[in-house]
Amino acid sequence: MINQKLLFARAYEKEGCAEIPSEARPRFHMTPCVGWTNDPNGFSFYKNQYHLFYQYNPYKTVWDSMHWGHVVSDDLLNWKYLPCAMAPDEPYDSDGVFSGSAVELPDGKQLLMYTGVLKEGGDHGKDIQTQCIAVGDGLDYHKYENNPVLDASDLPEGMSRNDFRDPKIWREADGTYRCVIGTRIPEKEGAIILFSSPDGFQWKYESILIRNDGRFGLMWECPDFFELDGKHVLLCSPQDMLPDGFEYHNGNGTLCLIGQMDGERKHFSYEHHQSVDYGIDFYAPQTTLAPDGRRIMIAWMQNWDTCDQQGAQERKWFGQMTLPRELTIHNGRLYQKPIRELDQYRSNKVEYKNVTVEGNVTLPGIEGRIVDMEITIRPKDKDAMYRKFGVWFAQNEKFKTTLSYKPYESTLKIDRKCSGSRRAYIHQRRSLVPAKNGEVKLRLILDKFSVEVFVNDGEQVMTATFMTDIAAKGISFFADGQVEMDITKYDLFAEE
Ligand code: FRU
Repeated sequence: MINQKLLFARAYEKEGCAEIPSEARPRFHMTPCVGWTNDPNGFSFYKNQYHLFYQYNPYKTVWDSMHWGHVVSDDLLNWKYLPCAMAPDEPYDSDGVFSGSAVELPDGKQLLMYTGVLKEGGDHGKDIQTQCIAVGDGLDYHKYENNPVLDASDLPEGMSRNDFRDPKIWREADGTYRCVIGTRIPEKEGAIILFSSPDGFQWKYESILIRNDGRFGLMWECPDFFELDGKHVLLCSPQDMLPDGFEYHNGNGTLCLIGQMDGERKHFSYEHHQSVDYGIDFYAPQTTLAPDGRRIMIAWMQNWDTCDQQGAQERKWFGQMTLPRELTIHNGRLYQKPIRELDQYRSNKVEYKNVTVEGNVTLPGIEGRIVDMEITIRPKDKDAMYRKFGVWFAQNEKFKTTLSYKPYESTLKIDRKCSGSRRAYIHQRRSLVPAKNGEVKLRLILDKFSVEVFVNDGEQVMTATFMTDIAAKGISFFADGQVEMDITKYDLFAEE
């Protein structure tokens, strides 16, 4: 039986979605059917398709009562809306169906594990957060009658039942299940805890996988934990981070820890830490394993601190997901590449080699807002280092978004202050990018209202959204000094 609240949401979104023309959305970045989205949830491959659920308020373009929206895709780029999967319609989740994940059961059903939220003592009370389950067929999901499956009584002494959320579930080779969940241990803040289950329904506390110990922000949200290239990787999104050099500038940021599990597979220690993304808009990444073995990550392409200043209220949708990215580890660091499925949508190749950039330069055929563009730069004369190189895009007489590189500082900067915003929120971010043999390689993916810059073959990524009028399609280059540049540019999805 589908609950009234879910039926209502499904009817509402159907109408709302029909009112949004496809031109008003990015071409291949997932946006909510209508209303608001934040975290990606339940990212999975199930019944021969990728499924992506998302934190969703269909009724307004602001965060409020959380539902799970639902889309599917064959190629991770063309998303089809399915009916809203879950509404906050049970006593244990009436204040929100918060983030979670998905796994396929041996009987072919799909299990969703999520955080149910109930406010203690009414609207202004504190959250009671518990872990809940729903089972379905890829379209309709039924909440488990014994929900919640994990609550405060499953937590060791001292761990917060108010901050206990975002289960990421997986199946072990022996058919049993594990999940990691974020919580708070008050004196030293965030921790990730590990649970186990024989069947996905009955859960047992195992261990503190890792605790923050005051190092990275406060509460750790949205953990993900997996093996990659012989290491274990923990991704999570710490709230309230302090910047550390060029790392962790986003307030609510993202953290990647690379290391090892202990012999008992209960504790994780890290050898390396880094931000997942060095731009402005990136939070709550979640990964899945593709059938061909690739570890693919998608994240919310937004920054919590700027949502209410980006004109959300005036739009019919707000919030988008990043391009899905393939993850690998090289030299102990996390590398990211755009999923290779994107290559099939490249067309209208325009290529220039050894172009001298000095002052401002435009090149015939280089423009557009749905673009995949690879640029390699080096000094024209090795003995005369240039002072600055830049590319302007989403540009016309009024607007431009800028990516610039200063070789003397080894810094790459994204700057969106002239990108349609009338507000003074954060518009710039810099990242430390040492040149490799004198060269810097940049791959820029533009999809109308965002740029994702993959630096030096994916060693770093900088992501930012902007609101520039879609008519601003210009792309040009500038250099203080002399730069030699190779460029290959494609339109994406050009058939439209
Ligand atoms: C992260 C987060 C999660 C929570 C969800 C609620 O962005 O705060 O911890 O489950 O959003 O929408």
